[in-house]
Amino acid sequence: MARHDGDSRPEVGGAKLDAAEVDWAALAEAAKEAMSHAYAPYSRFPVGAAAFTEDGRLVTGCNVENASYGLTLCAECTLVGALQMSGGGRLAAFYCVDGEGNVLMPCGRCRQLLYEHRAPGMQLMTVSGIKTMDQVLPDAFGPENLDLEES
Ligand code: THU
Repeated sequence: MARHDGDSRPEVGGAKLDAAEVDWAALAEAAKEAMSHAYAPYSRFPVGAAAFTEDGRLVTGCNVENASYGLTLCAECTLVGALQMSGGGRLAAFYCVDGEGNVLMPCGRCRQLLYEHRAPGMQLMTVSGIKTMDQVLPDAFGPENLDLEES
């Protein structure tokens, strides 16, 4: 099925990334650095996220809260914005931390966000080790479920 956004990238398939080749320590450091930029005056729970793209770029994000609480942007939201603003592409390896630098699981909404922009076999650092996107969001709903016209 063709992508719905005019993007000529191939559909996400079953290719696997090798978790052993990911510099997880560098991702953890980048996530902590991103966390230092968080704007979290309401929850006082800063979050940082970092990811390598398929083509080796590093993208990061932090949470940005709002006085209208429900408008809060999670760190993953700003990371996906950074992904798009830095040339797009797909996420290959992801790491999220809390204010202490501990690994943090992406919330449900953000798993959906990450799913949309994943590379085949995308890896995530989780509280129970390295997992694939499909393991943290099984049987996901995605663009492939939409009946979209080809452009
Ligand atoms: N938060 C994230 O940035 N990402 C997540 O995946 C979980 C939650 C933020 C949102 C809010 O600013 C704070 O953590 C407390 O919920």
